[in-house]
Amino acid sequence: MARLLIVYHSMTGGTRQMAEAAAEAAREADGAEVIVKVAPETGPDDLLAADGFLFATPENLAAIAGVMKAFFDHCYYPVLGKIEGRPYAALICAGSDGDNARKQLERIATGWRLRKVADTPIICTHAQTPEEILAEKMIGETDLAQCREIGAMLSVGLEMGVF
Ligand SMILES: Cc1cc2nc3c(=O)[nH]c(=O)nc-3n(C[C@H](O)[C@H](O)[C@H](O)COP(=O)(O)O)c2cc1C
Repeated sequence: MARLLIVYHSMTGGTRQMAEAAAEAAREADGAEVIVKVAPETGPDDLLAADGFLFATPENLAAIAGVMKAFFDHCYYPVLGKIEGRPYAALICAGSDGDNARKQLERIATGWRLRKVADTPIICTHAQTPEEILAEKMIGETDLAQCREIGAMLSVGLEMGVF
């Protein structure tokens, strides 16, 4: 059975809801085995054991979240050259932008020579004030549907070996 690894970080819940929606759809699709892990608990062995990946991160200070960056920093060289060609997709949760986080994450994945199999959605919470930014987030159904679609596609595609 193929294995899909979903790695995420979330401070105020938005990215967590996105990752969980993708994971739920991936499991319901009856495709690959689905493993969900938070970034600090994910290491090189988790990447090596997976056939495909979904990375989900907030944009913080015009970059991927520091916790997510630490995960990539920790794993980058131990798996370099060992996961080439494996498919991946990404999800970005942002206040109002998200583009730098998307570019940065995709650049890291390109360094690993992963194969991007879906456009990266940027889901904006439209939080503007410090109070709104620090508040727990609630991602809407339409946005979660995009995450579900990617989760299901990855899961089925991996199990069928179409990537
Ligand atoms: C320290 C900090 C920096 C942020 N910087 C950005 C930013 O550069 N661009 C942006 O669009 N949103 C930014 N945001 C907003 C977050 O991306 C947004 O609140 C998102 O929902 C966070 O995801 P989470 O709910 O999974 O933690 C920032 C939030 C924090 C706490």
